[in-house]
Amino acid sequence: DVMTKIQMAEKTSDAEKMYTYKGVLYPRLMCPEENLKAVETMEAREDDIMLVAYPKCGFNWMVGVLNKIMAEAGVQKIETESKVAPLIEFFGPDKLKVRTGCLFLSKIYFVCLVLQMLVIFRNPKDTLVSYFHFSNNNPVLPSGQSFDSYFSQFMSGDVGWGSYFDHAVAWDKKMDDPNVMIVTYEALKQNLTEGVRQISTFFGFKLTEDQIQQVSGQSTFNAMKQSSADTHGNLGNIFFRKGVVGDWKNNFTPEQSREMDEVFNKRLAGTRLGAKLNY
Ligand code: A3P
Repeated sequence: DVMTKIQMAEKTSDAEKMYTYKGVLYPRLMCPEENLKAVETMEAREDDIMLVAYPKCGFNWMVGVLNKIMAEAGVQKIETESKVAPLIEFFGPDKLKVRTGCLFLSKIYFVCLVLQMLVIFRNPKDTLVSYFHFSNNNPVLPSGQSFDSYFSQFMSGDVGWGSYFDHAVAWDKKMDDPNVMIVTYEALKQNLTEGVRQISTFFGFKLTEDQIQQVSGQSTFNAMKQSSADTHGNLGNIFFRKGVVGDWKNNFTPEQSREMDEVFNKRLAGTRLGAKLNY
């Protein structure tokens, strides 16, 4: 399971940890090639719910929200063999009842046409900072990096699951797809109850106002961090780190901030997803 793999990863050198599949870097132990291949040909099921996120945009938050919504609605919850994130690329497409993953759009393009998908995005500056800490604390990913060198890798897309910007540009094309709901970390931080209401409605779960309040009360950062020993075992602290908007200001130099602004302007300014990110 995940814990065993993570222990194995501790003995692996940084160079061995990552490999490239179709031009995108993946952590070898989390995303075996056979699973990535299987996802490309998997068939959608009628009751599939897909959750997609670029790493560190709030995937585990949404897993928590979806689990609680489904518990209230009395339907099948997200189940995995492990307590840690139910990633489709880790378990393979056939093991999961509710399929979730961080996969790049091109890999799920076909199923995307029929599945209902929830996609969470986050301001790239905070995403980078979160990913920097995660990488240094998670043995399956390269560690021991300085912020400056990590910054360069992130900007050139040389990190697990590839470039944030490629991912965002690809999902922007799905903004009008009625089967795709794109939410942002920042909007959920601002009004989680409203977010829970919209997500429930999108998936067709009929929750009462009390149930919506209940789910959102249990899905705050503090509530989820408190129960993280149950949901994530002893990895709780690396998945629930700070949970705030704007932590980039404590990490970016003014030059780094400008460099990212330039890339954002070039690639996402003027797009609908760019506008939604409220950058
Ligand atoms: P930070 O590192 O900035 O704290 P992912 O689940 O995609 O790996 O994303 C992890 C990020 O989401 C971490 O960000 C984590 O703290 C944050 N997070 C997790 N649960 C959250 C919650 N309930 N509310 C707000 N942020 C949450």
